[in-house]
Amino acid sequence: MNGQSPMGLAAAAAAAVRPCRRRLLSSATTAAAATATSTSLFPRCPHPHHQPHGRRLPFLASAASQASQSGQTIPPTPVPADPRSAVSGNLPFFDRVLFPDTFPLAPAAEEATTAAAADEEPASATKAREETETEREAWRLLRRAVVSYCGAPVGTVAAEDPECTETLNYDQVFIRDFVPSALAFLMRGETEIVRNFLLHTLQLQSWEKTVDCYSPGQGLMPASFKIRTVPLDDNKEAFEEVLDPDFGESAIGRVAPVDSGLWWIILLRAYCKITGDYALQERVDVQTGIKLILSLCLSDGFDMFPTLLVTDGSCMIDRRMGIHGHPLEIQALFYSALRCSREMLVMNDGSKNLLRAINNRLSALSFHIREYYWVDMKKINEIYRYKTEEYSHDATNKFNIYPEQIPSWLVDWIPEKGGYLIGNLQPAHMDFRFFSLGNLWAIASSLTTPKQAEGILSLIEEKWDDLIANMPLKICYPAMEDDEWRIITGSDPKNTPWSYHNGGSWPTLLWQFTLACIKMGRPELARRAVAVAEEKLAADKWPEYYDTRSGRFTGKQSRSYQTWTIAGFLTSKMLLENPELASILTCDEDLELLEGCACCLSKKRTRCSRRAANSHVG
Ligand code: GLC
Repeated sequence: MNGQSPMGLAAAAAAAVRPCRRRLLSSATTAAAATATSTSLFPRCPHPHHQPHGRRLPFLASAASQASQSGQTIPPTPVPADPRSAVSGNLPFFDRVLFPDTFPLAPAAEEATTAAAADEEPASATKAREETETEREAWRLLRRAVVSYCGAPVGTVAAEDPECTETLNYDQVFIRDFVPSALAFLMRGETEIVRNFLLHTLQLQSWEKTVDCYSPGQGLMPASFKIRTVPLDDNKEAFEEVLDPDFGESAIGRVAPVDSGLWWIILLRAYCKITGDYALQERVDVQTGIKLILSLCLSDGFDMFPTLLVTDGSCMIDRRMGIHGHPLEIQALFYSALRCSREMLVMNDGSKNLLRAINNRLSALSFHIREYYWVDMKKINEIYRYKTEEYSHDATNKFNIYPEQIPSWLVDWIPEKGGYLIGNLQPAHMDFRFFSLGNLWAIASSLTTPKQAEGILSLIEEKWDDLIANMPLKICYPAMEDDEWRIITGSDPKNTPWSYHNGGSWPTLLWQFTLACIKMGRPELARRAVAVAEEKLAADKWPEYYDTRSGRFTGKQSRSYQTWTIAGFLTSKMLLENPELASILTCDEDLELLEGCACCLSKKRTRCSRRAANSHVG
């Protein structure tokens, strides 16, 4: 967790309004929209304490009003009467939501029928199903974590642990942490908080902050923000609220959060798909926001690979863990954000070059990851027999990997069936650790081939005791120990072996696992993992992470009541009950991308055909 030093209040107040004005000036939104934005966004307002509230989607509102008219008691946390019919029929704007029968893959026929039948039940059973005590507690805690800005809910704090005296920046709204909260609210029909979050973070995007005289690139989204109450114009009696973002300039290590902008794009698409509020994504300021994030990601550099080159700690793992270079998590989110942006960008003269650049990058990126990050028994055996120092265009061992790099743990660990994407690939370096988030998001976004996606889930099933064990899911496997830990983490006392980022178990990852399982038609796997978590989370006070090889102990320095643990659990449960909603987050396989990939990696400059991209997966 990163420390945040307090900022001068007056400076914060002054800085708070600047980007907003600039963005509004540069935006060509209609005058009416601009006025609406400027009044709702950084108004000078008093500092009232208010109860967070949410706006319900029509199908929820009508269910509630019918109930009240007929004199029934409205349950405090109502569930959509029939989410499936609400999605497909009652709301015309859901026509862009994909349904389970369009999911790309089905398991073996018998299994598919059972899985489908099992999934049908909860959807229609939601009417009758009472929330469990654990779910009710989770909702209560999630609502407690909501923060408001000028009277409107805008996000959830990272943790609200009453027993912890050292808040650090856990009292801030983290972009990545808010995603599962947002999904839980969206699936419950409470969409206002998500819309507010998207628009407020957009305003923070062009904030002017510097680290020792150096400004981060325009388009960067903050890691987190805090709502501060500051005196109004030197008047010590009147106060206003300001949003104060942290781009990493206060964070330990001073690392920019590369994943924030990518998550923002992914969440924007999910919001628009589930609410049908496509007008939001079409707004000029929102289109500009997407373009700024993408320009930062697509700008030319010295790199030879289509993957994004980043420093250590630039994503969920925000401390030194040896993931600098081209970490899988960032690549999977990058691919997903490119796919989402391609859907959302309005096609016109101003965007056509960008759209072309997106398509080119998507092709190259998926080819690169599918071909070079994938390992299974067969591939490891190939690496084991690699020749090195091959100087030519058609080298087999393109990155000059010395076979001695294959770690001894992997030799016994890799199962006969299945495989996974490695954590990182650099010249003469393959990081063979298994990183859960990157692998799961590669499934969700279709960065992998369908066969690879099946292989990853099959590996997780096979290695259940290592990756799930007593608490889903290991952030990475295995932990670094001894000299490796000393050199790579810099002897980080928080990242000791099998703790925190170094092989700790993070319950928040449950929702990404559930999503990947649903996409691949394997909800039963997710149900098993949810059951493991459900048994312990509430009793253990919803910890941030668990320690030890099998995740038996609550993490050494783990916060209690960690919001994304709570929200991840709720999101998993809701996705399992309404699996058709998974499509607001997933992308289907796009075979045209591979057809269009002019691959210059081989001497003959062959095109990457579908077959080539799929061929290496046995
Ligand atoms: C830790 C995690 C990071 C998370 C933050 C707030 O720093 O590594 O991913 O965003 O806590 O929960």
